[in-house]
Amino acid sequence: MSDADAAFEVVAEGLWRSFSKGGRTIDVLRGIDLRLDPGEQVSVMGRSGAGKSTLLHLLGALDRPSAGSLRLGGRELSSLGDRELSALRCRHVGMVFQFHHLLPEFTAVENVIMPAVVAGETFEDARERALRVLGEMELDHRIDHRPGELSGGEQQRVAIARAVISKPNLLLADEPTGNVDDRIAYRLVRLFEELHRSGTAVVVATHNDALVRRFSHPVLTLTDGILYPSIAPVDNGGCLGVDIGATNRPGQIKAEAAGGPVVRRKLG
Ligand SMILES: Nc1ncnc2c1ncn2[C@@H]1O[C@H](COP(=O)(O)OP(=O)(O)OP(=O)(O)O)[C@@H](O)[C@H]1O
Ligand SMILES: [Mg+2]
Repeated sequence: MSDADAAFEVVAEGLWRSFSKGGRTIDVLRGIDLRLDPGEQVSVMGRSGAGKSTLLHLLGALDRPSAGSLRLGGRELSSLGDRELSALRCRHVGMVFQFHHLLPEFTAVENVIMPAVVAGETFEDARERALRVLGEMELDHRIDHRPGELSGGEQQRVAIARAVISKPNLLLADEPTGNVDDRIAYRLVRLFEELHRSGTAVVVATHNDALVRRFSHPVLTLTDGILYPSIAPVDNGGCLGVDIGATNRPGQIKAEAAGGPVVRRKLG
């Protein structure tokens, strides 16, 4: 991450996403307000179909909102063309998809290296880091396997490695533990915490209560198309909730109701 990226903020205001299906309009997101400074992390929970993946796709500039504004690193996305969006994604955003989207003809390590090389890194540097992160994900022995030769959980771990090796400004992880066991989930928590300490803003969408309990950051609930602060118990027995301002870490949490809660948390 360069100094120029240091002020990379995520600012969503009134994000709305509707889909038309069979003559009906479904309003999945109905005014999402969310603000993340570099190094902030939130989890988004919500029932199946609540719109978590839809939200992450918008935040990752893979989809455009029906209304509302999204600024990434000071740039309003609605003013950017597809090519500029793709460049912004490539440079700043890492995404762990719910369905992994690995390139089937490339090996695990090649899949991981690809975005870093496209973003301008040398092959050797990218490979060195890829091997470290794949080792962290306990995949040393699978680096030359193609996705079709990997289990679901192994594919998911490759997708995680791919999303993190470029140290993106914004990491979006959609059900990152859907197919992995507890030990890998614990490693993932450590990996994400390492990233967000180094300045990456992280948004994790998950159903996994146990995962959320291991993170010590705000948990938001997506219900009826709006993000609400919620309370999550944390490992030290404390309570971390953006609506009550209690925290087990130095910092400040503020929630404002303005059409939907604006969540802002500063690490001290
Ligand atoms: N392209 C689309 N066209 C029509 N409806 C869509 C489209 N994409 C998503 N939806 C609808 O939007 C709603 C939210 O979907 P989304 O995938 O965001 O949910 P989710 O919270 O991620 O669920 P899960 O926990 O099951 O992954 C669903 O009801 C889905 O059917
Ligand atoms: Mg989903």
